Amino acid sequence: MDKQLLQDELSLASLLEQVKQYTIGFRADDERPAGGTLRTVPEFSLPALGGGAQDAMKVFGEQWQDYLVASPSNRYLGYVTGGATPAALIGDWLTSAVDQNPQAVKGFGDVSAAIELSTIGMLRELFGLPDVFNGGFVTGATMASFTSLGVARQWVGQQQGYDIAKDGLQRTIPIFTATPHSSAVKCLAMLGIGSRNIVGVATLPGREAMDTDDLKTKIASLGGEPFIIIASGGTVNTVDFDDLLAIARLREEHNCWVHVDAAFGGFAALSPNHAHLTAGWEMADSITIDNHKWLNVPYDSACWFVREEHLPLQIATFQNSSAPYLGDPAADFNYLNAGPENSRRLRALPAWFSLQAYGRPGYEDIVARCTETAALLGEAITGDPAFDLLAPVRLNVVAFTLADATTEEVDAFVRRLNDRGRYFLTPTVLFGRKGLRAAFVNWQCRTSQVQEIMTEFNAALNERRPAPAPAP
Ligand SMILES: Cc1ncc(COP(=O)(O)O)c(C=O)c1O
Repeated sequence: MDKQLLQDELSLASLLEQVKQYTIGFRADDERPAGGTLRTVPEFSLPALGGGAQDAMKVFGEQWQDYLVASPSNRYLGYVTGGATPAALIGDWLTSAVDQNPQAVKGFGDVSAAIELSTIGMLRELFGLPDVFNGGFVTGATMASFTSLGVARQWVGQQQGYDIAKDGLQRTIPIFTATPHSSAVKCLAMLGIGSRNIVGVATLPGREAMDTDDLKTKIASLGGEPFIIIASGGTVNTVDFDDLLAIARLREEHNCWVHVDAAFGGFAALSPNHAHLTAGWEMADSITIDNHKWLNVPYDSACWFVREEHLPLQIATFQNSSAPYLGDPAADFNYLNAGPENSRRLRALPAWFSLQAYGRPGYEDIVARCTETAALLGEAITGDPAFDLLAPVRLNVVAFTLADATTEEVDAFVRRLNDRGRYFLTPTVLFGRKGLRAAFVNWQCRTSQVQEIMTEFNAALNERRPAPAPAP
């Protein structure tokens, strides 16, 4: 065995102790910038001779340490980025330590798929979803929607009398949606359905939510063809919800598949004041939930939920049918025949740990603190004449902009704010206006942050520098 390799295994206890100390320090570091301008990436090369794990940690510290932002902290309000609860972090560490490959629940050897299945059961309970849904873990919401829409595609083929997994896509699939997340559009591209086959449904006035009357009119013109609806259970900019109940009821009258992208909006089900927004999602065919958002497990973790009745179609889509060494896809449930990946890490374990550790009350508390903080920030912005709120705060995202400002001025403000390092926000365009979003999904979120956030906004505003000249 290589000398360094052997030496590292013998000193594993002290190496892990160092990593533990580093982890504690990183999580507690309140000075680390939440974002900012990327510096030049250092040169790198494969060492001629490895120096062992201790040396790798030293080089990591020297080369990369300064590039890491405080994205797991409650100061990172960009995109929709959760942190990692203490229990989720433990689960994630153990995922690597035990290094299982969850596949068949009743398989040979590794039966870690049973942990995945029970975590899915815990998540169903958390969200109040019925056990008619199967579920599994994938890398992110994009892949959860890919899995769901992959089964939806197979279902449409079945309705049209052919097997898309075997014969390939031969006919157009109409997709109805109003304000899909870009990742759903990407899924249509990846699945060969084609994003041009989206039939755009009108939104309600001043909203991102679907106008269901317009949807009904557009469905009527289809003449009974099967179709797919992609509904939003929380849009990324204003967390607007389509009327999931009205949409789900269309399943009863029409030949359609309803997919709900509830990547983070699904957590509204944990808030007494917001749970009504998810009403009807339990009637959908498939649902996307992103765990590395509001569940606060480390990247990369999301879940697809697809109705059990569609399992044969799911297996038809994702099976390994020509590999006897992987078992018979028609026999016992095996994750490698139900999703896009074959070998996977035990991605469920961080979620299992966090759910086991904090239960429903723990997550209700996280959701309550985030939604209260978002509401308070919305009020503070409304009360400050320098800013305009771009949409009512419906759940946990505050979309706003500078009052009377040009796009360039807003861009310059975002840069100044993020370069200050204390908070990180990402820009957006909403109803034709350039703005910013502050997304609250971190388990450490506190209402008391609102004052500091407003102070930072005003400091960035007052630091006004001329916007850089446009590129020639
Ligand atoms: C509503 C919604 N759907 C899907 C996604 C894609 O998530 P991921 O990056 O985890 O694939 C996001 C990400 O922000 C989202 O907000």
